[in-house]
Amino acid sequence: NRVVLAFSGGLDTSVILKWLQQTYDCEVVTFTADLGQGEELEPARQKALLMGVKPEHIFIDDLRDEFVRDYVFPMMRANAVYEGQYLLGTSIARPLIAKRQIEIARAVGADTVSHGATGKGNDQVRFELGYYALAPDIKVIAPWREWDLTSRTRLIEFAEAHQIPIPRDKRGEAPFSTDANLLHTSSEGKVLEDPWEEVPDYVYSRTVNPEDAPDTPEYITIDFEHGDPVAVNGEALGPAALLEKLNDYGRKHGIGRLDLVENRFVGMKSRGMYETPGGTIIHLAHRGIEQLTLDRGATRLKDEMMPHYAALVYNGFWFSPEREMLQAAIDHSQKNVTGTVRLKLYKGSAWVVGRKADVKFNLYSTDIVTFEDDMGAYDQRDAEGFIKLNALRLRLLGRRDR
Ligand code: ARG
Ligand code: SIN
Repeated sequence: NRVVLAFSGGLDTSVILKWLQQTYDCEVVTFTADLGQGEELEPARQKALLMGVKPEHIFIDDLRDEFVRDYVFPMMRANAVYEGQYLLGTSIARPLIAKRQIEIARAVGADTVSHGATGKGNDQVRFELGYYALAPDIKVIAPWREWDLTSRTRLIEFAEAHQIPIPRDKRGEAPFSTDANLLHTSSEGKVLEDPWEEVPDYVYSRTVNPEDAPDTPEYITIDFEHGDPVAVNGEALGPAALLEKLNDYGRKHGIGRLDLVENRFVGMKSRGMYETPGGTIIHLAHRGIEQLTLDRGATRLKDEMMPHYAALVYNGFWFSPEREMLQAAIDHSQKNVTGTVRLKLYKGSAWVVGRKADVKFNLYSTDIVTFEDDMGAYDQRDAEGFIKLNALRLRLLGRRDR
């Protein structure tokens, strides 16, 4: 019997690898996804080899472009934000990991998959809803829900007993829980568990402190085609390279930091810190280009659908008919979302300061909106009847009630 484990090479999944081999007497196949987490992946291979995984059972896949093109960008088209602030950087990566894990299970003839998410969080739900949607009869082992390593202390004892290296954070303590990919880095646990305590500086890893960011603002442009960013400062870039470029700008100017208490799907509140440098810039810029190119009715409907869409992504329902229905509507709305946005980056903030679109896509009309002489483009007298009919019911109400 074979089990495909989503293996980051970190402490938790290393312990899981060993524990699966011992507890289930099974052959473990490891899958490590390169989602741009900025870690060396070869050490994961070495660790897996050391723990007896066959070389042909070690999968390390570069999924960066697929991640950004087929997951991050579609989500950005929706302007998706969970509970007003979270840009869903972890949530959106889980379905892709699940999908690839199932493909590998098929390729190596495994009937079981396993992951390192705890029984308290969202990630277990996201992984497993993905597995079951794509392979209805798959078996799942979630060690955190069944083993007796019920605290970090016991986990570390197990690691020590089995010569599994234990990373230390800058404080010399075992680290809190983090998750990183091209879109974001999240941190939870340890010092962050007291929501009154400010996030210490050492927790941030991919943005400078805005207080230390450059004293002069920087301007960039982003070109969009049909709702997706395709170029930065006029330079055409593939999806992953584009996000990387914007991550560099975001890092330098300290953009996209978020300290949040959120509602997990399982019902508890948790406090986390997120850094989403490039994603924050794309999110703002996408709104900027929609301002010129998207009709009012379409904008309104998109904004109404957005919280629903964001909750589906957060709760792990990526592979669901309702997410696909919303996505189809959102994608349709992006047909004319093409043009260029100019942004100003300065000390932790990004602002849209300019946008332009070709006449083929643009709905903005200076002729119509101008405060100067519009040469008859718009007849102000039309507004009188427009207001009167809109006021009719208010006047009837006013007559009756006041
Ligand atoms: N709370 C975030 C979410 O549910 C991040 C979870 C990230 N996982 C982690 N191991 N820190 O999307
Ligand atoms: C975990 O519980 O494994 C991480 C946090 C989450 O999934 O919400």
